[in-house]
Amino acid sequence: MKDILNELERRRATARLGGGQARIDAQHSRGKLTARERVDLLMDQGSFEEFDMYVEHRSTDFGMEKTKIPGDGVVTGWGTINGRVVYVFAKDFTVFGGSLSEAHAKKITKIQDMALQNRAPIIGLFDAGGARIQEGVAALGGYGDVFLRNVMASGVIPQISVIMGPCAGGDVYSPAMTDFIFMVRDTSYMFVTGPDVVKTVTNETVTAEDLGGAKVHTTKTSIADRAYENDVEALLQMRRLMDFLPEHNRSGVPVLPTRDNPERLEMSLDTLIPDNPNKPYDIKELISKVVDEADFFEIQEAFAKNIVTGFARMDGKTVGIVANQPMVLAGVLDSDASRKAARFVRFCDCFEIPIITLVDVPGFLPGTAQEYGGLIKHGAKLLFAYAEATVPKLTLITRKAYGGAYDVMSSKHIRGDVNYAWPTAEIAVMGAKGAAEIIYRSELSDPEKIAGRIEEYKQRFANPFVAAERGYIDEVITPHATRRRLCRALNMLANKKAENPWKKHDNIPL
Ligand code: HXC
Repeated sequence: MKDILNELERRRATARLGGGQARIDAQHSRGKLTARERVDLLMDQGSFEEFDMYVEHRSTDFGMEKTKIPGDGVVTGWGTINGRVVYVFAKDFTVFGGSLSEAHAKKITKIQDMALQNRAPIIGLFDAGGARIQEGVAALGGYGDVFLRNVMASGVIPQISVIMGPCAGGDVYSPAMTDFIFMVRDTSYMFVTGPDVVKTVTNETVTAEDLGGAKVHTTKTSIADRAYENDVEALLQMRRLMDFLPEHNRSGVPVLPTRDNPERLEMSLDTLIPDNPNKPYDIKELISKVVDEADFFEIQEAFAKNIVTGFARMDGKTVGIVANQPMVLAGVLDSDASRKAARFVRFCDCFEIPIITLVDVPGFLPGTAQEYGGLIKHGAKLLFAYAEATVPKLTLITRKAYGGAYDVMSSKHIRGDVNYAWPTAEIAVMGAKGAAEIIYRSELSDPEKIAGRIEEYKQRFANPFVAAERGYIDEVITPHATRRRLCRALNMLANKKAENPWKKHDNIPL
């Protein structure tokens, strides 16, 4: 028996060594952890159970039969994060650059199938060069199997991708179909083809960082939702994120005990809005003063900063927050902000996470750059996403809600459940100056007269009561009572049931 146990231990030790000590050392020297070290940090201590550690590839082309490594470049299994079951696969760059063979794909699809069948989130840690070149179509087929499962699981269980090394081909397309992508600064890259192929095909010289580094993907393309300094920070933040997410689309949001009283009043909010309507203020101050323990997990913080999206908790339960940010471009809605918020709203709706929308928006951004960039369609994405969402939707207008943006930002007309406004709210087709200058164009030459018209428009519309008189605003609330009112409204909506008409699926303007 002892011999048998020794043999088991020997086999396990060989598998754990992956591509060998030299490659592990090389991985460390680049500032990266190994696949197993990452999984250990991600999961609750001692909770990870590995599957398929002895699986080897079956390729015989290009002398591959001489280079078989147990595990074949991916560590798969399940464990818990803060006590809840999570499935995980981690690409092992020390084995054929983490590339995907037919056998490697089968390991991943096994875990994907288990996660979907057993309704628990799945996290992929990516550090890999795509389809294994030596295997040709067998590897491509393997990726097809992974992609299909990404799509089948979409909207049923949360799928998270963390990019922790150079990733190409299928190792970027599979993440692209998951809910969130996170990157590590300076050590992770995402591109369909790497700099060498780019040089060959287009003769363009570009570094990996400039082609697909964390900065590019968090600020330019918005493909990545956030970036972290190193592997450890990224993995610890994933543990934090998982605490906000439901296990699946029917489980309801997790409830975490909180010491933050839902009745808490926040007197400083009464002076958050500056007297001058053109002066900005930081909407994140409102968020942190209203949510449980000021704990806010921001999504896409570096992209389209004129809108803020992220997760928080109210009275222990997860909510999604969407908020115009007056500090950036006066909080205007442009194509990027609309796309960013639309995707976030849809994630929340998939997973039954109530949405709180904080509105201070001067409208849509005018101009050729926006129009040529498809503002109509991108803005429609956000309008569509809010309108189709059936989760509890709370809206608070703090200041401006002008024009089409008023309708878009979770207004009553597109099924906002509870729509509040602060007394400082201004709800109108546009600002008073612009409005008066259009409807009294003939009086433009007389500055005194036009000033009077502006004042008249202001008096009529620069308040929440015209909307409240029509029931478009349910109540005008005092800023200091915001947390209490929102917590109470969320409790009131806890059993909300709303359904859209039967359809195969809708046709959101992609
Ligand atoms: C087999 C691979 C590999 C691959 C890397 N390796 N990618 N082996 N198949 N796809 C091996 C290398 O040969 C090397 O082995 C080791 O992994 C480390 O790779 P390096 O190139 O030395 O590392 P680095 O310089 O950091 O570059 C990493 C990389 C680069 C950017 C990922 O390796 C690269 O560009 N690889 C090819 C990417 C690619 O085009 N893949 C196919 C995509 S098609 P040794 O033994 O020398 O250390 C695809 C189809 C899916 O995925 C469908 C999409 C829709």
